[in-house]
Amino acid sequence: MTMRRKLLGVALLALGIALSVPAGAQKRAADFEPQVGQAGKDVIWVPTPLEVIDKMLTMTQTTANDFVIDLGSGDGRTVIQAAKKYGARGLGIEYNPDMVALSNRAAQKEGVADKVKFVKADIFEADFSQATVITMYLLPDLNIKLRPKILDMKPGTRVASHQFTMGEWQPDETAHVDNRQALFWVVPAKVAGTWRLRANGMGQDFDLALKQNFQVIEGSLQSATRDLLLSATTLRGNQIGFSVVDGSVRRDYRGRVAGNTMEGTVRSSNGAEVKWQATRK
Ligand SMILES: C[S@@+](CC[C@H](N)C(=O)[O-])C[C@H]1O[C@@H](n2cnc3c(N)ncnc32)[C@H](O)[C@@H]1O
Repeated sequence: MTMRRKLLGVALLALGIALSVPAGAQKRAADFEPQVGQAGKDVIWVPTPLEVIDKMLTMTQTTANDFVIDLGSGDGRTVIQAAKKYGARGLGIEYNPDMVALSNRAAQKEGVADKVKFVKADIFEADFSQATVITMYLLPDLNIKLRPKILDMKPGTRVASHQFTMGEWQPDETAHVDNRQALFWVVPAKVAGTWRLRANGMGQDFDLALKQNFQVIEGSLQSATRDLLLSATTLRGNQIGFSVVDGSVRRDYRGRVAGNTMEGTVRSSNGAEVKWQATRK
C-alpha cells in the first residue's frame, strides 16, 4: 500500500468514526449485554444476588425515608430493589457508561425512575454524603480506601457491604445468606476527647474522658474526689451509653451526641433518674 492510500484510509476511518459515534454509541447502549466478570475501573462486575441485597437492605432498616447510594452500582439492582420493595429513593454511582444507561432503562421498566437515578462517576471522586444508607460490593482494599469518607458521614448513616470487610472497623452485624456474607456498620459519632459533664442535682461536675476506636469507646468519669472507670460502653451512631460504679451506687448514662454537646438521662441503682449534659472541652 502506498503512503497516500494509507493516509486516505486513516482519514476515512477517522471521518467514519467521527460521523458514526453518536448513533453507534446509542445503539451500543440499547443492545448492551453486560457480562459477569467484565472489566470495571477498580473492580470487575459481579452482580449481588437478590437475597443478599434484601439482607443488606433489611440490616440497614431501609425505608421510604432513606436515600440509598450504591457505590459501583453495576446493573442497578440494589438501588432499584431499595426503591421497589422498601420505597427508598436512591442513586447508583457507576463508572461504566453502558451500565449506567442499562440501569436507568431498568429503573424505567421497573417503574421507579421517579425515585432513583444512575450516574457515570468514579466512587473515589463522587460526593455521596447525602446518603442515609450506603451499599457496596467492591473489594477489601477499596472499602478501606473509602473508609475515611464514610466515617466522615453523618453519624447514624448505615452501611452494608456484600462480602468484604472494612479492615479494623469491625461490623456491628454480620449475616450469612447461602454462602455469601452481608456486613453492616453504623457510622459512629466522633466522641474522642474530654467533655465537661454535669448531671442535674449531682452537686459536682465531672470530666468525661473518652478514647475511641471506631464504635468502641472506653474512658473514665473524673472529679476532684473520684476517678470512675466506664463500663458497659456503647456507641451506635449518635447514641451513647456507659455505666460507672460509684461506691455502692451504679449509674447508667444514656444519651445523644450532637457535635460538641451530649445530653441524656442517668439512672441510678437507688432509683433516681436525672438529666445530664456534656460539652466538649
Ligand atoms: C462487583 S460489581 C457490584 C455491582 C453492584 N453493586 C451489585 O452489588 O450488584 C462492582 C461494580 O463497580 C464498578 N466500578 C469499579 N470501579 C469503579 C469506580 N472507581 N467508580 C465507579 N464504579 C466502579 C464496576 O464497573 C462494577 O459494576
